[in-house]
Parts: sequence; structure tokens; C-alpha cells
Amino acid sequence: MSLNYFNYLTDEHRMIQQAARDFAQNEIAPIAEEYDHSGDFPLKTIKMMGEMGFMGIEVPEEYSGAGMDTISYVLALEEISKADASHGAIMSVNNSLYCYGILRFGTEEQKQKFLIPIASGEKIGAYSLTEPMSGSDAGTMRSRAVLDGDEYVLNGLKSWVTSGPVADYLVVFMPTSPEDGHRGVSAFLVDAGTPGFKRGKKEPKLGIRASATSELMFEDCRIPAANRLGEEGEGFKIAMAVLDAGRIGIAAQALGIAEAAYEASVTYAKEREAFGQKIGQFQGIGFKLADMKTNIEAARGLIHRAALAKTHSKKTGQRYTLEASMAKLFASEMCMSVAHHAVQIHGGMGYSKEHPVERYFRDAKITEIYEGTSEIQRLVIARLETGLR
Ligand code: CAA
Repeated sequence: MSLNYFNYLTDEHRMIQQAARDFAQNEIAPIAEEYDHSGDFPLKTIKMMGEMGFMGIEVPEEYSGAGMDTISYVLALEEISKADASHGAIMSVNNSLYCYGILRFGTEEQKQKFLIPIASGEKIGAYSLTEPMSGSDAGTMRSRAVLDGDEYVLNGLKSWVTSGPVADYLVVFMPTSPEDGHRGVSAFLVDAGTPGFKRGKKEPKLGIRASATSELMFEDCRIPAANRLGEEGEGFKIAMAVLDAGRIGIAAQALGIAEAAYEASVTYAKEREAFGQKIGQFQGIGFKLADMKTNIEAARGLIHRAALAKTHSKKTGQRYTLEASMAKLFASEMCMSVAHHAVQIHGGMGYSKEHPVERYFRDAKITEIYEGTSEIQRLVIARLETGLR
């Protein structure tokens, strides 16, 4: 039972929350186990999410988005992730890492060509920063983009690209003047049909198995110079600014997974009996549930605060890096801990593939890793708070 004190949620917020909840529980929850098992990409339900406006929630309607705010986005993403974290990962990358960057840094022509089909859900977008030797230390990429006339020639190997195996369009970051370090990185919009672009090995993963992840190979891949996003050398800052938005999405995904694990645990604690009583009557289980619930609500507070900061930044241009990193750090670690307790409360059942808590446990782990590990979030927060480096 919780009080209805979230009166900052408007009717529009509640509407999208309910629509996402109904869709997630009716269409996604019943297929989540099957897709986790097969590792197939859930194209049909992702397309349906596009039709419902979930793939470009904050994109204005003139660019075929839903034209809603960041609170609407996190409410919907939480509901989708509660049914299946893989759908949540695909939705988060499409909305935050792809659409947001073009909306904020793209030209009108780029928005017409690269934003509209992705925000409408007709096509799928991806974001490619990481390389085999450049993960947390994102400024040390070995790929190269060289200007040749009115084209850039892209070469290199990118890795860990969410939706890489299926994306139609990608935002790709590569150094144009490597001698300038992070100030020599540029951002590009790439059509996956361009000659010289190849999809590499698909990663076999512990969790979010239905969200396809792969390497990408660029071999003399020529793209129009007009596809550069922002100015030459601005790519690293674009990558970081976009990750601020992405991290709020991952925090909302973590919240959804944790809620699913928590609700399963409450149900089980009320049903399962041991030593002559419901296991929820034992203080050892009750205290776990109390901590899980408290931490879930604390995460929700940080996530909504970050969402409000992002909405505010659209007017002021102020960065919301601190709010986004705190939300992601707390929500992802909370999610892992809640999923861990959920497995323990379920005992043997929690370890069985016949019960979804085993999937929640595997899915939870990635939230502490992608879009900046917990260690990177702590580094970002500490640097911003102390001003020290
Ligand atoms: N917004 C705007 N600008 C920013 C910024 C932000 N959030 N963060 C940093 N910058 C700017 C800085 O102001 C600085 O600007 P100047 O050049 O004017 O000085 C510049 O960017 C460089 O910043 P730093 O000196 O802080 O850079 P750094 O090399 O020390 O790295 C870091 C900082 C925080 C460690 C960063 O590299 C980072 O976030 N690493 C993690 C990368 C990451 O999250 N990768 C995940 C990729 S996506 C993924 O997981 C796959 C997927 O498909 C989902």
C-alpha cells in the first residue's frame, strides 16, 4: 500500500504509465521467458511499441515522436522493463542514446532523415562509442574517421553495441584528429546500408538476452560529410551529454526489474510455508522485504528528480550530469541487491528457470555495467562535488 502523494504526476503521466503497464503485462510479460531462452530479437513487440509512441517519447510530434516529457519516459520505461528488461534496453537506447542526441545536436536535414523513422518506431537506432580497448576510458578510441572531399571515410572496430545486429541507423563516435585526444573525437550518423559497414559477432550474454548486442566493423565506409553530428571535435562532449540522458533510462530500467523481483518476493513470502507458518512471518524475510521496498522508493525519488532536472535543462541548457549519475548508481546497485534478495527468499525456486526471479537476477547485473559502470558514476559524482580530478 502506498499513499497517492505523487501529485506532481499529471493526468498525461498517469495515462502513459497505464498504457505502458497494460501493454507490458498483456503483450511482453507472456513472451519474456521464451525470448530470454532463445535470445531472438523481439521485433514484433518492438514494432508495436513504436506504434504506441514508446520509441520516441520525448521527441516532438513534428518529428513523429510522442512529444512528452522525461517523467513520462521514465514511467513508461519502468513498466516495460518490469515485464522484460530486454525490451527496456532496446527502448532506452532508441529513445535516449539515439533520438535525444539527434534532437539536441542535429541539423534540420538530419532530423528529417535520421530522427523521424526512428522516433516513430518504423526503424531501430543504436549508439556506438565503445571499442575493444576503449570502454570506461572512452576517449582512447583507435578507430579513425578521415575527411576525403565531401565524405568521411570510417575505419575501425566498435564493440558492445546494443541493437547493433538489427539497427537501421547509428550514432557512431570516432576520432577525426587523434592527436587532440578527447577533443579530436567527432560524431557521425551512419545508415547501416552503407558499403563498408558490417555487423560483427553477436555477444552471448548473461542477461537481457533478447536485446541483441554486437561488434560493428567499418572498412573504408564512406558517409556524406553532411552526416557529421555537431562540429568536428565535439563528438566526445556529445557522447557524454547523450549518456547523461541514457543513464536516467538505465536507472528506470533497473527500477522496473527491481519492482518485478520485489513483487514476486512478496507473493512468495505470503504463500510459501515453512516451520508451520508463512515464510513472510519470519523476521528474516520480513526485514529483507522492508529493505527492498524502501530502497525501491528511494531509487524512484532519485530517478524522478533526475527526470525533472532533464526536463528543466531543455529550457535552461543546464547540465543534469550529477542527478543522472546518482540515479543510475543508486538504482542499479539497488536493483542488483533486490534481485539477490529475491532469489534468496525464493530458495531453490529462485534458482530455477521455471521462475522469473532467476531472469531478474541475470538481467539486473548489466545495469551496474553499461552506460558507465558504478565506478564511473562514482568518479563522475565525486569530481563534480569536489571539483578535484
Ligand atoms: N556533458 C557535456 N560535456 C561533458 C560531460 C557531460 N556529461 N562530461 C564531460 N564533458 C566534457 C568535459 O567538460 C570536458 O570538456 P573540455 O574538453 O572542454 O575540458 C570533456 O568532456 C572531457 O571530460 P573529462 O576530462 O571528464 O573526460 P575523461 O576522459 O576524464 O572521462 C569519464 C570522463 C566520465 C570517465 C567518461 O570517459 C565516461 O563517462 N566513461 C564511461 C563511458 C561509458 O559510459 N560508456 C558506455 C557506452 S554505451 C554502452 O554501454 C553500450 C550501449 O549500447 C548501451
